[in-house]
Amino acid sequence: MELQTYADLVNQPPRTATATGNGELDENAPLKMEVRNLDFFYDRNVQVLFNVNMKIPARSVMALIGPSGCGKSTFLRTLNRMNDIVEGTVHTGDILLDGIDISGPTIDVVALRKRVGMVFQKSNPFPKSIYDNLAFGPRLAGMRGKSNLDELVERSLKQAALWDEVKDRLKKSALALSGGQQQRLCIARTLATSPEVILMDEPASALDPASTSRIEDLIFELKQAYTIVIVTHNMQQAARVSDFTGFFYQGKLIEVGQTKSLFTKPKQKQTEDYITGRFG
Ligand SMILES: Nc1ncnc2c1ncn2[C@@H]1O[C@H](COP(=O)(O)OP(=O)(O)OP(=O)(O)O)[C@@H](O)[C@H]1O
Ligand SMILES: [Mg+2]
Repeated sequence: MELQTYADLVNQPPRTATATGNGELDENAPLKMEVRNLDFFYDRNVQVLFNVNMKIPARSVMALIGPSGCGKSTFLRTLNRMNDIVEGTVHTGDILLDGIDISGPTIDVVALRKRVGMVFQKSNPFPKSIYDNLAFGPRLAGMRGKSNLDELVERSLKQAALWDEVKDRLKKSALALSGGQQQRLCIARTLATSPEVILMDEPASALDPASTSRIEDLIFELKQAYTIVIVTHNMQQAARVSDFTGFFYQGKLIEVGQTKSLFTKPKQKQTEDYITGRFG
């Protein structure tokens, strides 16, 4: 379906999965996103994703795993059109959000990225105060009034499990926070714009074990309200935090299914080789 306006995008009723691809995802789980027959190219004709099909159920965590260069980040960035900023990227196939294709030229990309927010591998706070990092997006979106903004800042920091650590230094620079705190700040910043889907590209790979575990707890909390897609190189992490896992290899989605069965009873030999450490 071609999207005409942003209103079309927001007014769509949630869709229901009718088929599961591999018969494993819950047939009745409402789908938040769905990718069909996705081929993706850099430099107009260098293909890096091949006929990817994936259903992403609402309020769940989908982990993307696979060896370096297999296309995880590229795939993740197709979900909110972050690849648009790279000259020469092209794709064919459908990328649906609540059943509506997000690829059309009429899509409001800024609104799309508000609905499908992103957290990067390297935390990237703005060189501003903690408070202003969080208030920036909402202000840009037109939010005014100190009490509204105060409330939003507090709520997002609490959701990101950072409030207690920073509540007395909100006006201090975000750059003075530790790496793990900066990453939680970036998650809080994403939450402050009220996304529906949160994309995370190796959000904990630069963090120590304690900070990693806080981020994992946070992901577990957040999936009550949000749909999360997370790229990780850490298979224990995928097994701990995700409901579903997709294994990519050389640009193909080799297998996708419930995390538990993918890790214990992989259907494909390549998946088994990867999760048992035979390559990658
Ligand atoms: N901006 C770009 N221009 C051209 N090719 C790119 C670009 N970004 C990535 N690629 C290529 O696309 C392929 C997939 O890369 P991608 O970054 O999606 O892999 P990945 O699975 O995220 O790897 P990693 O685990 O190392 O982050 C690789 O061959 C990569 O070299
Ligand atoms: Mg990557």
